Amino acid sequence: MKYNFDEIINRKNTDSFKWDFYNDPEGTISMPVADMDFRSPEPILEALRGVTEHGVFGYSVVPDELKNVLQERLERLYGWKTEKEWQVWIPGLVPAITATCRAIGEVGDGVLTSIPVYHPFHLAPNYVGKKLQTFPMIEQNNRWTFDFEALEKAITPDTKLFMLCNPYNPSGTVFTKEELEKLVTICQKNNIVICADEIHCDLILDIDKKHIPLASLSQEAENMTITLLAPSKTFNIAGLGCSVAVIPNPELRQKFNAAKDGFFPPLPRHSMVAALSAYRDCEDWRLQLVEYLKANHDYLYQELNGYKGLKMLPLEATYLAWIDASGTGIPDIQERILKAGVRLIDGKLFMGEGFLRLNFACSKIVLEEGIKRIKEALK
Ligand SMILES: Cc1ncc(COP(=O)(O)O)c(C=O)c1O
Repeated sequence: MKYNFDEIINRKNTDSFKWDFYNDPEGTISMPVADMDFRSPEPILEALRGVTEHGVFGYSVVPDELKNVLQERLERLYGWKTEKEWQVWIPGLVPAITATCRAIGEVGDGVLTSIPVYHPFHLAPNYVGKKLQTFPMIEQNNRWTFDFEALEKAITPDTKLFMLCNPYNPSGTVFTKEELEKLVTICQKNNIVICADEIHCDLILDIDKKHIPLASLSQEAENMTITLLAPSKTFNIAGLGCSVAVIPNPELRQKFNAAKDGFFPPLPRHSMVAALSAYRDCEDWRLQLVEYLKANHDYLYQELNGYKGLKMLPLEATYLAWIDASGTGIPDIQERILKAGVRLIDGKLFMGEGFLRLNFACSKIVLEEGIKRIKEALK
């Protein structure tokens, strides 16, 4: 491997959310929040040094080259032809999720999403006076997918927005063309706008799976979709805050802009320069990263799936394992694992009672130690 993902970088006492927020005992291995313990690729670091050396940190505009690079990339990697003016650059996807919930429909209207799900999806509707509507993910053919029957049943006349996470956090599902087409058909029939959060699209672990941007399916899909993207997960620059909403439909774009204006600060130059370098200069790093994550995933799956009642389905994408711990019969399992020296996230946060989420974007050695401790905790 050209890049050293085995290197262990100490993140303690760096004001890291993942490593410092919880005040865990010294030596705890931290595997909650979705960022990686790897150093970002050198071209990004070099670009950031350039901005820092310049030494002037005033307000910035989005550079045209960033828009070009994203446009070119979406077509090259995912076959989606887009226009530059569809891009709305924003300093984070979580606020974009809230802005979308605010933009679509009236106060009291419904926002539909599957559960368990990345928590801002089920929290955001409430922040902006909308009604959360949910339906369950189900296990089918050794993967998590939508219960389409339940989805259709959950729709009411006031459902105006569907929040889609693809690839899915926390189950790692990469939705197939058929599944996405079915979703579009249902939403179109019911006049529902789709917000497709595709932040994890560059992290496909299963080589038989391909990410399909929902909006690329058809003109109709394009017209009814707000797509959210960012280089942050893939290139480990989440703390810099650089994301983009791609909104082909001018009316939806106008609504999104109206919902966010006055709330979102302009993007810092550091974040945009890092994003540009990530998308333009770091493709070989990304490919090796995915290989490394896949090996970590396979190891984790082999070690933990079936161990003392733990159950995990193989992930198609992301570095966030979704582990069913209900079979262990241990009610406070997260606490028990924490006592053994590993910090995970309790699935309750995602409306997934009985589950644990484990972030395996770390050096293999750290993962091995983490797994050893989890096994000890279950003995
Ligand atoms: C599906 C999904 N969307 C958005 C985010 C966060 O995006 P941002 O850091 O740009 O707010 C995450 C982070 O885990 C995520 O998993």
